Amino acid sequence: MKRVVAVFAAFAVVALLTVAAQAGSKGEQIFSQKCAMCHVIKGKGGAIGPELTKIASKMKENDLKVKLENPKKTNPNSSMPSFKTLPKAEMDALLGYLKTLK
Ligand code: HEC
Repeated sequence: MKRVVAVFAAFAVVALLTVAAQAGSKGEQIFSQKCAMCHVIKGKGGAIGPELTKIASKMKENDLKVKLENPKKTNPNSSMPSFKTLPKAEMDALLGYLKTLK
């Protein structure tokens, strides 16, 4: 019986790690679909907006969220579109990815 529990626990850990790994890459995917045409990260992307390779050393998570929901708040002339309508799960995944860019 103990062995069955141990095997089950091992499976659960693997499943959790897989989910965590996908959460990271989901944010990256959203970035490449919605942001990369204007922003460079690690040498790839468009030049309309500033490079974001080290954005997390400059902006905190909450500042990033404010920027994404209302780009004109910090820059009235901003040509960046608002991402206010992004589903919460996607916003969280995206912020999780941006936070790693230091
Ligand atoms: C149509 C082009 C465009 C798209 C698409 C776009 N941005 Fe921007 N972004 C800009 C421009 C231009 C600026 C600079 C002006 C400003 O501060 O608003 C900017 C500024 C920013 C800043 C502030 C950078 C700094 O150094 O102050 C962040 C963070 C940012 N964008 C993140 C994103 C993310 C994340 C996405 C995708 C969800 C995205 N942007 C999509 C054009 C864009």
